[in-house]
Amino acid sequence: MFKPETYIKRRKQLKNDLKSGIILMPGNEESPMNYADNTYHFRQDSSFLYFFGLDHPGLTGLIDVDNDTDYIFGNDLTIDDIVWMGTKPSIKERSLAAGINNTGTISQLDEFLKKAKNSGRKIHFLPQYRALNNIKFFNWLNINPNDVNKFASVELIKSVVNQRNIKTDEEIIQIEEAVNTTVDMHLAAMRMARPGISEADIAATVHQIAIANAGELSFPTIASIHGETLHNHSHKNILKKGDMLLLDAGAENRMHYAGDMSSTIPVDKKFTNRQKEIYSVTLNAHMAAVNALKPGIKFKDIHLLACKTIAQGMKDLGFMKGDINEAVAQGAHAMFFPCGLGHMMGLDVHDMENLGEVYVGYDGKPKSTQFGIKSLRLARELEPGFVLTIEPGIYFIPELIDKWRTEKKFMEFLNYDKLKEYKNFGGIRNEEDYLITKDGARLLGKPLPKTIEDVENERK
Ligand code: GLY
Ligand code: MN
Repeated sequence: MFKPETYIKRRKQLKNDLKSGIILMPGNEESPMNYADNTYHFRQDSSFLYFFGLDHPGLTGLIDVDNDTDYIFGNDLTIDDIVWMGTKPSIKERSLAAGINNTGTISQLDEFLKKAKNSGRKIHFLPQYRALNNIKFFNWLNINPNDVNKFASVELIKSVVNQRNIKTDEEIIQIEEAVNTTVDMHLAAMRMARPGISEADIAATVHQIAIANAGELSFPTIASIHGETLHNHSHKNILKKGDMLLLDAGAENRMHYAGDMSSTIPVDKKFTNRQKEIYSVTLNAHMAAVNALKPGIKFKDIHLLACKTIAQGMKDLGFMKGDINEAVAQGAHAMFFPCGLGHMMGLDVHDMENLGEVYVGYDGKPKSTQFGIKSLRLARELEPGFVLTIEPGIYFIPELIDKWRTEKKFMEFLNYDKLKEYKNFGGIRNEEDYLITKDGARLLGKPLPKTIEDVENERK
C-alpha cells in the first residue's frame, strides 16, 4: 500500500468534487469457481484499491461527504475462519493503513444505508460488473440487480476518472515495475519459441514469471500462431516452421498495477521476406504513433496517423490502392487494422473500462460507430500523467477478406487478388506502454526488442 496520506488525499478530492451525499464503494468478494470454497484467484476492485487501498475480500468503503467522514465496513474473522485460513489484523487495524478510523460490521453498514435511504440522502456509486455486488445493491437500496448500472452516479464516475487518469509519480514506479516484469515475460518467450514447442508452453512460462515476481497476469495471455484473432485465448497449437507467434501478455505487480505488451516472434529465428515486409509496415505505424505522442494532441489523430501509415505501407506492397486519406476516412484500412491504436492503462489493463470508455477515453463525447474506429478505446486530448499503450497491428482475417470480397466492399481501395494470397498469413502486433510527460512521452520499463534485427538477434 501507499502511505495513508495518499488515500486520504484521493478521498478528499472526491468529497470536494461531489460536495454532498454519500459515496458507496463495495470491494470485491471471493468468487466461487465450481463450489463455494474453491474460488478463482481473488482480485480486488480497482477503484476500491485506489481510494481505500485494502486488498481483502468482504469490505465496503463509504464516504459521508456531508459529514466529512470515511468508513470501512466488514466483519472480522471468526475462529472458524482463522482455523482454516490463518489470522489477519482486525478491520480496525487494517483500515488505519488507509487513514480510516471509522469501521463497522456488515450489519452496521446495512443500518447506515437504511437510515440514509429513508432520510432521502443521495447515494453515489460506480457501475458494477459482479453479480454478487449487484445483489448487494438490491438488499441495500432495493434496486433490481439488472438495473444497478442505470442508477450509477455520473458525477462520481467523472470525479474518479479525473483522478485515476492522471498517474502520480508513486503510481508510475508501480506501473514501471509491472512493465519490467512484462518485458521479462516477452524476452523469455522470444528465447524459447521454436518448432515443436506448444503455445501452452509459452503461456505457462509467461505466467510463471508473473507469479514469481509476486504478482499475477494483468489479463489472460494471448500466445498464438493465429495472431489475426485479436483476443485469441486458445493455447492448443504446436509452433511449427514458418509460423509467427503473437504474444500479448502482461503482469500486474503486487499493488495490482498493470503492464501490457505485445510482440511478434518468428518461430524459425528469422522472419521470411513476406513476414518482414508486413512487419516493417506495422513497425513504421508504431514509430509514427510514438513520435507523435505529446500533451494537447488528440489520441484519435494519432490513431488516424497510424491508420494512414498502415494504408500507405499496404498500398506500397500492392494490397491497397487509390487515395489513402480517402481510404482511411471511409474505413477501408480496417480490413487490416480493425481495432484501436491503444488504451489507458493503470490499475486495470484497460484502465477503468467498467466506468465507461466514453468517460475514460472520450471525455464524455460520443464514439464513432464505423467498423474499426468504433473499437478505439482512447480518443481524447492527451495530458501529462496519462499512461497508455501503443499497439498497431496488421491482421489477415480470412472471414473478413471473404465477406468484404463477396460484398464487393471498398473495391476502389482493396486489391482482393493480392489479399487472396495472404489469407493464411496470420497477424502482427507490437505493443509498448508510454507515459505522457510535460513535453512529450516516455517509454515505460526496459526496452523490448521490436525491430526485425533486434527480435532476430534475441532469437539466436
Ligand atoms: N492486451 C490486450 C488488449 O489490450 O486488448
Ligand atoms: Mn493492450
